[in-house]
Amino acid sequence: MKKIAVLVSGGGTNLQALIDAQSRGEIAGGEIAAVIASTPEAYALERAAKAGIPGFVIPRKGFDSNRAMTLALVDKLKELNIDLVVLAGFMIILTEEMVQAFPNAIINVHPALIPSFAGPGCYGLHVHEKALEYGVKLSGATVHFVSAECDGGPIISQKAVEVLPDDTPEVLQRRIMEQAEWKLLPQAVSLFCQDRLQVEGRTVRVL
Ligand code: GAR
Repeated sequence: MKKIAVLVSGGGTNLQALIDAQSRGEIAGGEIAAVIASTPEAYALERAAKAGIPGFVIPRKGFDSNRAMTLALVDKLKELNIDLVVLAGFMIILTEEMVQAFPNAIINVHPALIPSFAGPGCYGLHVHEKALEYGVKLSGATVHFVSAECDGGPIISQKAVEVLPDDTPEVLQRRIMEQAEWKLLPQAVSLFCQDRLQVEGRTVRVL
């Protein structure tokens, strides 16, 4: 059984999708062993508590730099014997030490079709603001392995979602979550836990 840690910063609806998938028996070969938040205010911590999953806080405010915070996170994840790290609405850019500690074992969900609307500054609602400003007719979500480059790792899965006239960033965010993120993320986590994701350069093969 692979031990999964979910890293969160906010509302935690993607964490909830993982918890719900787990309770339906859809995370084959894995169990959510810990939820780690970058702030004590993250509502995701309440979701973890309700599901009986241990919650921890490693606050960004407690460190001088993203690097110092990343090192503390790596220590905690190693102490917990974690096999897979899932970034589910985690708003801190981790430094390379995390990728070195967990090569091809960190999965992120991003609310756009990478390489569009991705990289530093593209997170949360900003992603949808940028997509609407640009006028795209399709956006969506991407689940990918995390590499040293922000939002640049090998892509596991993507799903396109329609942008409709009069969408606000909030409305588009919700549609992309419902139609794409909450489905793709649990599926990718389950495939990883069954050793069915093989990385070949930039390509991820589903076995
Ligand atoms: C989600 O849309 C997630 O894809 C996005 O933040 C939201 C978090 O919602 N993540 C990023 O933008 C990371 N670059 P949640 O806390 O309800 O899961």
